[in-house]
Amino acid sequence: MSAAARHPATVAAQALGEADPATGALIPPLHAATTYLRDPDNQYRRGRSYGRADNPTVEHAEALLGALEGGQGCLLFASGMAAATTVFQALAPGDHVVAPEVMYWGLRHWLTSFARPWGVAVDLVDTGDLDALHAAIRPGATKLVWIETPANPTWAITDIAAAAGLAHAAGALLAVDGTAATPVLSQPLALGADLVMHSATKYLNGHSDVVAGALVTARAGDLWARITSLRHDAGAILGPFEAWLLLRGLRTLFLRVERACASAQLLAGRLREHPKVARVLYPGLFDHPGHAVAARQMRGGFGGMLSIRVEGGEAAAIATAAHTQIWQRATSLGGVESLIEHRASIEGAGTPVPPDLLRLSVGIEHAPDLLADLVQALDRLG
Ligand SMILES: Cc1ncc(COP(=O)(O)O)c(C=O)c1O
Repeated sequence: MSAAARHPATVAAQALGEADPATGALIPPLHAATTYLRDPDNQYRRGRSYGRADNPTVEHAEALLGALEGGQGCLLFASGMAAATTVFQALAPGDHVVAPEVMYWGLRHWLTSFARPWGVAVDLVDTGDLDALHAAIRPGATKLVWIETPANPTWAITDIAAAAGLAHAAGALLAVDGTAATPVLSQPLALGADLVMHSATKYLNGHSDVVAGALVTARAGDLWARITSLRHDAGAILGPFEAWLLLRGLRTLFLRVERACASAQLLAGRLREHPKVARVLYPGLFDHPGHAVAARQMRGGFGGMLSIRVEGGEAAAIATAAHTQIWQRATSLGGVESLIEHRASIEGAGTPVPPDLLRLSVGIEHAPDLLADLVQALDRLG
């Protein structure tokens, strides 16, 4: 079978399938060098000179993620926020961007507290509503449309292909935060997006022991060139040890995501029957407003993230999280261990997240254990 015909799960499991040419090692080596030897005639024919730009371990992880997303280039960053903010910093003051009302709160906060004062005009809209998105885009002035799908923490869905069509018709690019979907479930570039961003801290690494971010581009171009030099010049790079751990995590990505999706689907269906659950937010449920679009643009599952709204409001939600024994009370998502979080508490004042919402990151534990633990915690609400 040709390399191009291999399923992405095969490509990921073998980390592109190359043995180290120097030693034959099947496990990729960790290159820690920050500096590289010059040739006697003063050239750098092997292509690497200094660690801020060049590291083979980082490049290996980038090549694998780039292949999984079907992109022409991939860059790893020190965090998801470093990756995302580099995209906006590659724009110019005066440029207009459209971003979602419901999105990772840290980036929404950065857009309003840093990007706006810096001179980028930011409009936040419900990007799931294509009429609202269309109305917010200003042909000629809008340079970037940013979407996140499924969007943290309501798991609202945006139609990637339709958003790409609207952005491109107005001369703008489309960037997608694909953290929750991962390339296992959707490939935004194939649907017309220009950039995909990941908090690799989450599913891509999958073991809650690396903070990392990634950008993958559909093609080389001006924006990608600016992003590449911004990473180099500002230095928001990923260290080689983190890249090595990320590469190791990526090898089990498909197994972990498939397991999390199956468990999340089961939990969503069962939790909606519990009398103390007012609502389950999960795109895999038929009555989720984004279900039809999600079914079209995601394959193999609807993700490992869901949220529940608890009868009795904030106090009841916090009490439920207090009484779980298997679900760990912690922020973040996408690790092998299941996490439960009262989301409004971490987002603080001004959050649009309802106070009764608990965010659930489904890990790879035995699904009936996860269900039983939540049910006993909800039952204690009386
Ligand atoms: C959807 C999403 N995007 C971006 C980020 C930011 O990533 P990082 O924490 O790696 O900087 C997060 C972090 O929680 C996230 O959940």
